[in-house]
Amino acid sequence: MNNPYNKHYRQESYFGKPYPGLVEFFENYSNRNVVLDLGCGQGRDALFLGRLGYKVVGVDISDVGIQQLNKAALQEKLQVEGFVADIYSFGITDEYDIVLLDSMFHFYKNDVEKETKVLRRIIEEIKPGGLICNFMQKGNKREKELKRIIKESGVTFEVLLDGYTDYPEYDAEFHMYIIKKLE
Ligand SMILES: C[S@@+](CC[C@H](N)C(=O)[O-])C[C@H]1O[C@@H](n2cnc3c(N)ncnc32)[C@H](O)[C@@H]1O
Repeated sequence: MNNPYNKHYRQESYFGKPYPGLVEFFENYSNRNVVLDLGCGQGRDALFLGRLGYKVVGVDISDVGIQQLNKAALQEKLQVEGFVADIYSFGITDEYDIVLLDSMFHFYKNDVEKETKVLRRIIEEIKPGGLICNFMQKGNKREKELKRIIKESGVTFEVLLDGYTDYPEYDAEFHMYIIKKLE
């Protein structure tokens, strides 16, 4: 499949390690259940979560990223499996307790419509009790947009984490928003 990330992923660990804030949250979260990592890339988060004991399904359109993820998961005998698929049509079934989106949204003008649509679908489809974990580059406008879409969905969530984490590899800060769908 032709994807610009295939070229980036010739470099090992292109995006580096998981953010310290992501590591801290998932190390301390007691329900080690099933995670759907939408846009998992080479699997920096999926493999980390697999090592912690989570079962992870990763989805990405980069076949190169998915091959790398599956190879590492197999070598380490993790419960992590990647699939080449489009996140914009991937169904969020009851199988998934946690949906992870890392660096997938930015709400730029050209993408805001499709990103809003997929976020609305995730909000609707995730089961009650399920978590949506969004990590994106810090930015007042995009954080407001994220929260607006969630609020306007009418679905009630408990906010488990609303904060920032360092991203040492890129000398940047990322916004972490982790919410739980109420029954
Ligand atoms: C910025 S990278 C983030 C990768 C990973 N979440 C991480 O943080 O390491 C964006 C990823 O989204 C994937 N992607 C972009 N559009 C996609 C789509 N429609 N369906 C599935 N994956 C997509 C790209 O191939 C790339 O791996």
